[in-house]
Amino acid sequence: MLDLVALTRLLDSGATAQKPQVVIDAQAEHLRSHNANVHRGVYALAQEADAAYDEARHRVAAFVGGDPRTTIFTKNVTEAINLVAYSWGRANVGPGDAVLITQMEHHANLVPWQVLCRECGAELRYLEVDERGELSLEQLDAELARGDVKLVAFAHVSNVLGTINPVAEIAARARAAGAVSLVDGAQAVPQMPVDVGALGADFYAWTGHKAVGPTGIGVLHGRAELLDAMEPFLTGGDMIASVDFQTVTWNELPYKFEAGTPPIAEAVGLAAAVDYLDGLGMERVRTHERSLTEYMLERLAEVPGLRVVGPPEAERRGALASFTLEGIHPHDVAELVDRGGVCIRAGHHCAQPLMRCLGVGATARASVGVYNERSDIDALVDALQAGREVFGL
Ligand SMILES: Cc1ncc(COP(=O)(O)O)c(C=O)c1O
Repeated sequence: MLDLVALTRLLDSGATAQKPQVVIDAQAEHLRSHNANVHRGVYALAQEADAAYDEARHRVAAFVGGDPRTTIFTKNVTEAINLVAYSWGRANVGPGDAVLITQMEHHANLVPWQVLCRECGAELRYLEVDERGELSLEQLDAELARGDVKLVAFAHVSNVLGTINPVAEIAARARAAGAVSLVDGAQAVPQMPVDVGALGADFYAWTGHKAVGPTGIGVLHGRAELLDAMEPFLTGGDMIASVDFQTVTWNELPYKFEAGTPPIAEAVGLAAAVDYLDGLGMERVRTHERSLTEYMLERLAEVPGLRVVGPPEAERRGALASFTLEGIHPHDVAELVDRGGVCIRAGHHCAQPLMRCLGVGATARASVGVYNERSDIDALVDALQAGREVFGL
């Protein structure tokens, strides 16, 4: 895909994906030839920018089976989740209510709910992660049966355990119990077919840069009735219908939630990214990455003292493996394999509560993308073995 990929063994797509040339070109071409602000100008160039932004929204929405009217561009998935926590949460969650999330959440899908509950006097409760790295639907039912859960928020795919959660099942149970559901799809959209309509969650959020798109753009899909009833998150230009000295009325969806100049070139880049992924075919992307994950799990099992966390079967997990290596701190592991030209992530992966559940401070994490091959995993395993020797293990 890129020179960089040819030179380095990049096994950190879970943090951010490398960008195909078509994405770089689409963004550059937009900036070079069609750059104007949107929803303001009457001149031809401004209308080109309007059309490009609008077209990008349609393409991005179609990629995941969403409706353009309820597809909102944000800065990233973090902002998309905050939008819901502020606009829906502040109006619908209060004392005596509960927000239910899971122990495997990224801070992006944890801290906004913690702050909401603290401010509104609600309780934040957690679905537990079992020893396989999975959630229990029985515990979900028991929590919902308490009758106080207003919102269930959970990751589609865990960025640490790799667990693929049963989104449709959880969303259906939440709805039957009168709770709203929100899914953090940051790790799912880049690697498997996602149809937000079929999944049936009330809110589904994801981030462009992990889906081979640009940084600076995220996406929130929401149920129209909920979005229509919500107050805006941020206010200012472009999100209004009319403003007087003391009063204001809001613009229609999706613009009500896009205050100020939106990420225009980024939207164009993201549209090129989803076209690229569509061209590969998301079923093929998933097959490729699942097979690499299976191979990675097999090869990592050869390294003495290495423990992978999360479900043991590749079909139950996304394209990553987080692990600890006895006798070597995960940061040292990442540094040692970097000497062999292999890039992996180490740390708490923005999931400190989950690290506590796992009984570790950090893990190393190798994650694969569309451009990886088996030889990248071989290089990782060779570098890990060499690293063990450096440590005299
Ligand atoms: C599961 C999950 N949620 C949320 C995020 C946050 O993404 P962003 O920083 O693009 O908002 C990440 C990124 O690491 C993630 O893996």
